[in-house]
Amino acid sequence: MDMKSIIKLGIVIVLLMGLQKCLYNNPRDLNVEFVPEMVHSVAFDAYAYNPNYADGKTLKMPVKGTIARGFLPEYSEGELTEDIARKVLLNPLEITDKNLARGEWIYRTHCQVCHGMTGLGDGPVTKRGVPSPPSLLSDNVKNMKDGQIYFIISNGKGNMASYRSQVQREDRWKVIQYLRTMGN
Ligand code: HEC
Repeated sequence: MDMKSIIKLGIVIVLLMGLQKCLYNNPRDLNVEFVPEMVHSVAFDAYAYNPNYADGKTLKMPVKGTIARGFLPEYSEGELTEDIARKVLLNPLEITDKNLARGEWIYRTHCQVCHGMTGLGDGPVTKRGVPSPPSLLSDNVKNMKDGQIYFIISNGKGNMASYRSQVQREDRWKVIQYLRTMGN
């Protein structure tokens, strides 16, 4: 056979294999793996069983006392109270237009549903049976230190839940900057 016929025969075989795949395709069948070494990693997958550890888990909890990069603890776990926060936590951010704009965005996204666009405590959910929060323009809030409001956003207070996981640390300080401009 000359080269051309071999190529033609090859093309016909590939087409026939394709046709066979179309006609008898079973979605449960595995496709051919050409280089399985590249498909299956040698390392243990994060959630895979791992016989090297007594608990059989690949993922490990961080060692006690570990600090994630760029995430310095603000205070020892469980030690911070609203009163301590009021005294020791200071807003680390400069007041800039950019920070205020971000603070406003955070407020509109996370806070206004309850506290209302202008902070009067008349957000949309309060019209649907959720009790109104106190006004953010009150003397009570005006007299609060930034650290105290930071504590309230981070840990919640009374009927208000914690917004720790929704609002990043820096954004909490920015929304506080924005709060200070409300009602002016
Ligand atoms: C689900 C509704 C809800 C959301 C969302 C919410 N709050 Fe509140 N907030 C409340 C309620 C209710 C209170 C009153 C808590 C209490 O003392 O029982 C409150 C209290 C506060 C206070 C203290 C006011 C005072 O006079 O004691 C501040 C400050 C505050 N919230 C800020 C925020 C900020 C900032 C956000 C957004 C990150 C936010 N809240 C999101 C419901 C909410």
